[in-house]
Amino acid sequence: MPASFEALFANRPVILAPMEDVSDAIYRRLCRSVGADLCVTEFVNVEGLLRGCRKAHHKILIEPDDQPTVIQIYGSDPERLAEAAEVAEAAGPSFLDINCGCWVPKIARRGAGAGWLKNPTAMVEMAKMVVERVALPVTVKTRIGFGAETEMPIVDLARRLEDVGVRAITVHCRTANMGHSGAADWSWAKRVREVVSMPVIVNGDIDSGEAAQRALAETGCTGVMVGRRAIEHPWIFREARAMLDRGEELAPPTLEERFDLCRRLLHERWALRGRVSSTRRHLGGFIKGLTGASALRLELFQCDTLEGNLAILDRYQSAADSFAAA
Ligand SMILES: Cc1cc2nc3c(=O)[nH]c(=O)nc-3n(C[C@H](O)[C@H](O)[C@H](O)COP(=O)(O)O)c2cc1C
Repeated sequence: MPASFEALFANRPVILAPMEDVSDAIYRRLCRSVGADLCVTEFVNVEGLLRGCRKAHHKILIEPDDQPTVIQIYGSDPERLAEAAEVAEAAGPSFLDINCGCWVPKIARRGAGAGWLKNPTAMVEMAKMVVERVALPVTVKTRIGFGAETEMPIVDLARRLEDVGVRAITVHCRTANMGHSGAADWSWAKRVREVVSMPVIVNGDIDSGEAAQRALAETGCTGVMVGRRAIEHPWIFREARAMLDRGEELAPPTLEERFDLCRRLLHERWALRGRVSSTRRHLGGFIKGLTGASALRLELFQCDTLEGNLAILDRYQSAADSFAAA
């Protein structure tokens, strides 16, 4: 029995952010195994979904053991977004999310992603159309504004989105113009939370259990969403959970846990893609802080086969084990 929408937000969820080429089914399961409460797919182009593009359809595939997962879609045409929402709904996600925050110029310039922030009224009308087309709850992930408005639109916008039936909002506390640079200003999430009754998820710069706790304490938000830190340190999910549930600071992952996660990701991505390159942005982070990490990283990054990568890990691990035993 899938959890109700309300239940998903009942216990201050720590959520894996939608991230292109990161938040696939393999990484969602991996993050869930270390404590992620809810995961969002990478954004899926509505045109790809409606044209029946294999890659887009693969992105919305959700196996029974990959729940709860949210599907995020993006596009610039309200009618196409509503149609694609129906397609995504049939894939059985927990709910649907509309990307109104992608700052990448080739997307935002076409009016998709953060492009919607340039016309809040159009964004609200589009969201209303999507909400009316599907039975599943619809949520929006956006930024505080496009930049640099004198008055950020996010507070009024959130209220208007709630009025047309949007059920939750994720606020990435930067402008689109900021991209990923500069500090996220969580005070905007607080201002949003003060004017709506739907769940508000705070996002931006949550990079530790302590930061998750601080973001929730400062904003009063319903949950936190973690992006970049989860790429290199997925254990942030259990660290945040321990901090939120028990005020406990967990010890860092052991060497064995780090190597196990490296192996798991290598095996699974290799099985799916037949190459190891997509694991590299993760492996460097998984081993960060270990003795000899930079030499290990270099060796891994120069090796293109699964067997080779596994052999390098085995060699380092037994060397570390004998070093620890000595
Ligand atoms: C590699 C990468 C891919 C991303 N892809 C998406 C995406 O598909 N959809 C989306 O809404 N945001 C996307 N984002 C933005 C993140 O979801 C998140 O809002 C942002 O990284 C800020 O959170 P953080 O400071 O925890 O990283 C992406 C970010 C990164 C780093």
